[in-house]
Amino acid sequence: MKTIQVEIERSHDRCDHYHVEIEEGMTVLDVMEHIYTHHDPTLAYRYSCRTGLCATCNVMINGKPGLSCTVLATPGKNGVLSLAPFPRGETVKDLVKDM
Ligand code: FES
Repeated sequence: MKTIQVEIERSHDRCDHYHVEIEEGMTVLDVMEHIYTHHDPTLAYRYSCRTGLCATCNVMINGKPGLSCTVLATPGKNGVLSLAPFPRGETVKDLVKDM
């Protein structure tokens, strides 16, 4: 296991930072679930199929759009795993977009 720093752009111009222990093979969705379960149950994110088919879990990962259920949790160039809502559409809360 190793610890990574995670930065999440949330509603109301809020940006939160977390330190998360990750295991090999953990996806970004796994990291969000870990944060929700162990650090902050107010974090809002969305998923459905967990297999890369529905695109419900689409978020910005280290500045690029990606499906959080399929992208492995790895830090960006700055050493931080950076998450933000997808830029299109209305944000309902945190990482959740109006579909
Ligand atoms: S949860 Fe369906 S594509 Fe990720």
